[in-house]
Amino acid sequence: MKAYSVIPEPVSFRIFSDSPVFTLTDALTLEGTDRAEGCFQELLSFIKDVFCVEVLSCGKEKIRMEISGEGASEGYSLKVERDRIILTGNDEKGLFYAVQTLKQLLFQSEGSLPAMEITDYPRFSVRGFMLDCGRYFFTVDAVKQFIDMMALHKLNEFHWHLSEDQGFRCQLEDKLLLTEIGSYRSHTNFNSIPHEGYYTKADMLDVINYAHSKYIKVIPEIDSPGHVMAMLAAYPELACFPRDFSVSTFWGVKHDVLCIGKESTIDFMKEVYGELAEIFTDGVIHLGGDEVPTVRWKSCPDCQRLMKEKGMKDESDLHTDYLDTIGPFLQEKGIEVRMWNDRVKENMTDKSLTWQLWNGEMKKEEVVKELNSGRKFVLSCSDYFYLDLPYARTSLEKAYDFDYEAEGLTAKGEKNILGIEACLWTEFVPDMLTADKMTYPRLAAM
Ligand code: ACM
Ligand code: ZN
Repeated sequence: MKAYSVIPEPVSFRIFSDSPVFTLTDALTLEGTDRAEGCFQELLSFIKDVFCVEVLSCGKEKIRMEISGEGASEGYSLKVERDRIILTGNDEKGLFYAVQTLKQLLFQSEGSLPAMEITDYPRFSVRGFMLDCGRYFFTVDAVKQFIDMMALHKLNEFHWHLSEDQGFRCQLEDKLLLTEIGSYRSHTNFNSIPHEGYYTKADMLDVINYAHSKYIKVIPEIDSPGHVMAMLAAYPELACFPRDFSVSTFWGVKHDVLCIGKESTIDFMKEVYGELAEIFTDGVIHLGGDEVPTVRWKSCPDCQRLMKEKGMKDESDLHTDYLDTIGPFLQEKGIEVRMWNDRVKENMTDKSLTWQLWNGEMKKEEVVKELNSGRKFVLSCSDYFYLDLPYARTSLEKAYDFDYEAEGLTAKGEKNILGIEACLWTEFVPDMLTADKMTYPRLAAM
């Protein structure tokens, strides 16, 4: 019996016959709910692109698409019987995933399928992919290619890393200098050629609409209070010690970060995230919050004054205070707030802020303690999920084998693990050719 692979591996998958019972032809009867219109179009364009078959008329072979309105969200079943295929989504998303599975199967079978039955639903509600467009700018078309591949693998969150020391990519009408100055670097770590690019509001809406057509949420990230050299180049007054800053040309953690002690910095960042929240309406915003050195804060009169006023013991409390100020500002608008998690400190940031775990240095017991206390996590454990790491370190097999249980993350707070996300950081990924090599097939494995 020929073996078939479906990614991700379905909850249940049975094959009942050796020989095909269904074969694609140009005379195919499509029937089912009106809500399946988009799914039919998706399937027909796949059939046309891959098999050069344009479905012209109704015939004996049938594909039926339905929505049951029952069962786990995003779940579906797929049945191949004599001369017919029945796709049933528990909801619209589920039907869309049934179509992705059918595409995967048809692709492997050259258009003929044996009798089979698949039932599937997700283990995690968050299945994400992050693209760092801060280090290197990727065009809207390139971003859409990633979104296509995400959809094929039933991933449902595109985390768009839009700012870095090396570039600010998201045009904000209220703060045009951020992109006018911050989107250009004089040279890169690869060569002495300038690099630039940013997304207009129309570009971002185009990406958002495209992602939505594939049931993918878009989660924007403007990283702060660290990784802000491009912002400081545009608005130096946001720093503890304002002077001429340049957009970084080389990667690495920088000492200059936002001055938390100045009220004006906080107001500025509320305006930045406020405008971001108007463009990106999927209800999740990422604040960044990773890799923040405290060296400037230690000698900044404004930061030291705030520490004294609030009775803070050390500079890392300023970091917490910042996230605990901006976070609730967005939460009041009904937004789920995410942030990178580099380290854990007792009571660091409000428990309602979701942490994206990336750093292997965080002790397992501490993660479990946080989970049990109600903190929600997205797992991006770098050794498994960082697509920029060389294959020699994170092999395909390793990317496939990640298991949070084996990592010791089972806990009574296990339900607080929202899901997983793979990240393509682009310090060393200047173009699509490199991006594809690093991303696939490890993203599929995740
Ligand atoms: C990170 O890798 N700095 C989130
Ligand atoms: Zn300061």
